[in-house]
Amino acid sequence: MQTRVCIIGGGPSGLMLSQLLHLQGIDTVVLERQSREYVLSRIRAGVLEHGFAQLMREARCGERMDREGEIHEGFQIAHDGKMDRVDLHKYSGGSSVVVYGQTELTRDLYEARDLMKGVVIHNADDVQLRDIKSVKPYVTYRAGDEIVRIDCDFIIGADGFHGVSRNSIPKTVLKEYEKVYPFGWLGVLSRTKPVSPELIYAKHERGFALCSLRSQVLSRYYIQVPLSDKVEEWSDEAFWNELKRRLPPDVSEQLITGPSIEKSIAPLRSFVAEPMRYGQLFLAGDAAHIVPPTGARGLNSAASDIYYLYHAMVAHYKNGDSSGLDSYSAKALARVWKAQRFSWWMTTLLHTFPDSIEYDRQLQQTELAYLFSSDAAQRSLAENYVGLPF
Ligand code: APR
Ligand code: PHB
Repeated sequence: MQTRVCIIGGGPSGLMLSQLLHLQGIDTVVLERQSREYVLSRIRAGVLEHGFAQLMREARCGERMDREGEIHEGFQIAHDGKMDRVDLHKYSGGSSVVVYGQTELTRDLYEARDLMKGVVIHNADDVQLRDIKSVKPYVTYRAGDEIVRIDCDFIIGADGFHGVSRNSIPKTVLKEYEKVYPFGWLGVLSRTKPVSPELIYAKHERGFALCSLRSQVLSRYYIQVPLSDKVEEWSDEAFWNELKRRLPPDVSEQLITGPSIEKSIAPLRSFVAEPMRYGQLFLAGDAAHIVPPTGARGLNSAASDIYYLYHAMVAHYKNGDSSGLDSYSAKALARVWKAQRFSWWMTTLLHTFPDSIEYDRQLQQTELAYLFSSDAAQRSLAENYVGLPF
């Protein structure tokens, strides 16, 4: 098999790039290890920067997002029994975010690939990257007993944190930065009316909590839990009771509870791999970087990688200009590290650290007091939350 760009990973990063390049007449093949049903069964976050939403529209996949997604112009921070609102619209010069589940977004991308008869190969086992330092790399995968070879110009490693691509870069070349937080998030999805029209990030001595939504009949809630906790130890009732304890009384009184339709614990980690290019291999999304979900940057950071790669590939194939490809790693990492900083700041501000000393807790309090007493601080928060320019 022959193609221009072989993309490993059929998650939002890989599918988005495949769709954007196809619209520019650039041929791609996407290799996904799992089935489509499996990929779409994953519950992930759902806050889209305005730049990402714009990229979805450019990829002709924004119609359902614009119809069913919610525009949010602010969110709440609950602390010390009260709530303070972060006015994104006011402090970002009129911008906002779109609240739309990653699962739905990925479904839209798959349907768009189908519509254009894009090549997405599922259940591709044992994907191997070959000759990535040569001008003619290739990829092999196993389909049953047969080994299939795909010749290409470029390989995109969009295969997530546990993929094969990053591990194809020699350890002598790859530099990895990691920070693991001493807690996780227990998340519940429930067919209940959201407790608030806007997201509530709650800081509480018992731990962080988040009230989010997928629609007006589908809510998503999270509470901070120790890493040693097991999801089986948490009944729905225990979850709802703990969530109520961490919210201001007037909010927890409004909370509508119900059976969980999804419940899982996700560890919190920050991770960056450099460089994001090695020969003809380009890493994108979770394959190169992970953030704790507190800042809602995971998907949005992946999207900025795709934005840079898309424009670099088009310049290369249309104008023979490889400057975008040559500067991709530096450009993508510059924005990735800003998302890392923001996610670390939000996590440090709003979580309860088991080993914190009184001085640290005083600083957290002061950071919140400063935030809501300073327009400059709220402008900084707002511009990072709605999305820094690409
Ligand atoms: N071969 C083929 N496919 C693979 C392989 C492999 N060896 N390893 C992993 N994959 C597939 C996974 O099954 C997954 O569907 O690559 C895909 C990677 O998708 P994601 O993990 O969703 O990563 P990405 O597309 O970069 O999206 C980043 O996902 O985890 C969230 O918070 C994160 O929102 C961010 C987004
Ligand atoms: C979510 O809706 O799942 C969500 C929203 C905001 C976050 C993290 C997760 O910061």
